[in-house]
Amino acid sequence: MTMTAFDWTSVAVGWDRHRVHVEAMKQPATEALLHALRIAEGETVVELGAGTGELSRRIAGIVGPGRVVASDVADGMVGLLSGTCAGLGNVEVRRLDATDVDLPDGSADAVVFRMGLMLLTEPDVALREIRRVLRPGGRAGIVVWAAPEHNPWMVAVGMAAMMHGLASVPPVAPGMPFSLAEPSKLRGLLVDAGFVDVAIQEVETPSTYADAREHFDTVTALACPLGAAISAAPPEQVAAMRATAAEVVGPYRTDAGLVVPGRTLVAAASVP
Ligand SMILES: C[S@@+](CC[C@H](N)C(=O)[O-])C[C@H]1O[C@@H](n2cnc3c(N)ncnc32)[C@H](O)[C@@H]1O
Repeated sequence: MTMTAFDWTSVAVGWDRHRVHVEAMKQPATEALLHALRIAEGETVVELGAGTGELSRRIAGIVGPGRVVASDVADGMVGLLSGTCAGLGNVEVRRLDATDVDLPDGSADAVVFRMGLMLLTEPDVALREIRRVLRPGGRAGIVVWAAPEHNPWMVAVGMAAMMHGLASVPPVAPGMPFSLAEPSKLRGLLVDAGFVDVAIQEVETPSTYADAREHFDTVTALACPLGAAISAAPPEQVAAMRATAAEVVGPYRTDAGLVVPGRTLVAAASVP
């Protein structure tokens, strides 16, 4: 049974539409992750919670004759993965739950989980699974959001939803976007799961929007489960949310549009 709070199939269409924006925003974290993991030609790499599959496709180019298992637990995302990785002979697309990974012990050289671990209500279970499927000396690469004050691009919409009665769970609660934002917590979870050589770096991931309307529309199309709640909300409530979110991102206006700060934690760790 999955220990994920929500089914991301509901936002798969939004992730498909905004995949270029998502990758551009995450690029600094992605580069840091790939650099820290030192993935080599011929290796077997598993990506959990792979979403659209853009990162799996990139890793497939690195491993060449090796193999990538591109996976997600949400059927809608598995559909996107299949499209993104179609025609890549070294990629196998699977529906895998990070808390119960249907792969043999010691079968991977590296496991990547970008922007997913913090969404699990029991991330410790997933980290033990990741360690299990890695061979001795294998590496895990995890990316999560840093603290809310460093991520106004997301907080703007989350705060607007809370202020206008559309969200009630604090974003730092287990399974929520900022639940692993404290580096010592992430480090402790990795150590408790049996990893060594844990290295965590903070990486800035600003995102750019033409204006406040584009910011709100983009973030809500990607947000699970908030996107669905907003689609069903009365127009006055959505208008009030838009106004609040616009106020929060207003200070980030530049000549190039709204450039709103974001920050991630990029963790790499090894199996002894
Ligand atoms: C915020 S999205 C990130 C997608 C992609 N990794 C990226 O960085 O663009 C989180 C993804 O994790 C997936 N996910 C959530 N819970 C999961 C679980 N228990 N096992 C595997 N994937 C899960 C969701 O379906 C979703 O595709």
